[in-house]
Amino acid sequence: MAEVAKLELDGKVYEFPVVEGSENEKAIDISKLRGTTGYITIDPGFKNTGSTTSGITFLNGEEGILRYRGYPIEQLAEKAEFLEVAYLLIYGDLPTAAQYEAFKDNITKHTLIHEDMRLFFEAYPAKAHPMGILAASLSTLSTFYPESQDPNRAQEAVDLTIQRLIAKVPTLAAWAYKNAMRHPVVYPNNQLDYCENFLNMMFSMPTDEYKVDPVVSKALNKLLILHADHEQNCSTATVRVVGSSQVNLYTSIAAGVSALWGPLHGGANQAVIEMLEAIKADGGDHDKWIAKAKDKEDPFRLMGFGHRVYKNFDPRATIIKKAADEVLDALGVNDPVLDIAKKLEKVALEDEYFVARGLYPNVDFYSGIIYRALGIPTEMFTVMFALGRLPGWISQWKEMIEDGAPIGRPRQVYTGATKRDFVDISNR
Ligand code: CMC
Repeated sequence: MAEVAKLELDGKVYEFPVVEGSENEKAIDISKLRGTTGYITIDPGFKNTGSTTSGITFLNGEEGILRYRGYPIEQLAEKAEFLEVAYLLIYGDLPTAAQYEAFKDNITKHTLIHEDMRLFFEAYPAKAHPMGILAASLSTLSTFYPESQDPNRAQEAVDLTIQRLIAKVPTLAAWAYKNAMRHPVVYPNNQLDYCENFLNMMFSMPTDEYKVDPVVSKALNKLLILHADHEQNCSTATVRVVGSSQVNLYTSIAAGVSALWGPLHGGANQAVIEMLEAIKADGGDHDKWIAKAKDKEDPFRLMGFGHRVYKNFDPRATIIKKAADEVLDALGVNDPVLDIAKKLEKVALEDEYFVARGLYPNVDFYSGIIYRALGIPTEMFTVMFALGRLPGWISQWKEMIEDGAPIGRPRQVYTGATKRDFVDISNR
């Protein structure tokens, strides 16, 4: 007999179905709760709420497991190419050689940005954060492709939008950086692979030939794969909720970029380096900063520590930590902030406060250190995260549309003033 959950309210027992996932995760389906009982649930931050079933990414925070479509993140990070992983996430299976060639070919065809759109980049102030530019330019893309407004178009048309997004986001991201530098933009070079092309658009100058270092492009490939999806995190949930209104895919992705920007989410990679720099400038006394993080009167948090779902370790952090050592070694980089990071990690991992709360280094603790070694400026770190997360956002949006998800619209329990009569301003 199917498992049910029983809920007793006002002396009456209600039954709700239990949903079980392919990895034996269980959930109580309360979709009929309000209709049958008149009650709703309250769950700030959705800490206990599954907003959907999904066949894309499996994550077990207690055991530190992360798999895309069943494939362990460790294997993908070691053996796959980022675009292969993008295909896997979006279409459900690893591509055959022919499918992969066609996919890459289609993406290569769409790397250029419309010349009229390039003009927008000239108007942003030099101090503009590249995440602001990326979010704005993704929304702007939708104005260049008015035919893409309907998310329920034929599969071929949806595929075209997906290809355009994957192809153009590296160009937009690199141009956002060039804007900050007040350097001329570099056009895509379709002879290069995805990571090489991005690095070339970032670092090539009319005055200097830039040759992509294979150590750098390989490291970038790995970082993008590690960030490619992470089930229902803040930005992905945002993409799903925004997309559920049936707005176009470009705009849904722009909303995801905005959500990712915050320091509690993707913005943490920038915040980690800024924190390590601040500790260094302050004399390198990491104990003082650990004490600040533990002090409940102090809003400071140890950036790069803690995760909503990982309470033992973040498998991405394990891979990144090893990659950081390899990349720094291969590039001959000696970064003093890495020493501070290692000391901070050691102390925090042994400290009762962090141990009791399950606060471990997350993916962002080490990603910034690699990005720095690769020559990526700090303000671009979250853009790099967005570049990696793009296929995840697209696959989650696609699943949501194909499942015919209803519009995302939570409820609330109102706690404000009860009805009162308007008082004329002269009597207040
Ligand atoms: N430093 C100090 N204390 C912390 C930290 C931290 N980084 N993170 C959580 N805590 C404490 C928090 O004060 C609370 O303590 P208490 O139980 O005494 O009130 C307890 O740990 C639980 O914290 P929470 O805020 O309820 O946990 P959450 O699941 O809502 O937040 C988090 C998760 C990632 C937002 C949080 O750990 C944090 O702010 N970390 C720093 C920012 C960061 O590194 N974010 C990147 C996350 S990984 C990249 C991504 O996927 O977005």
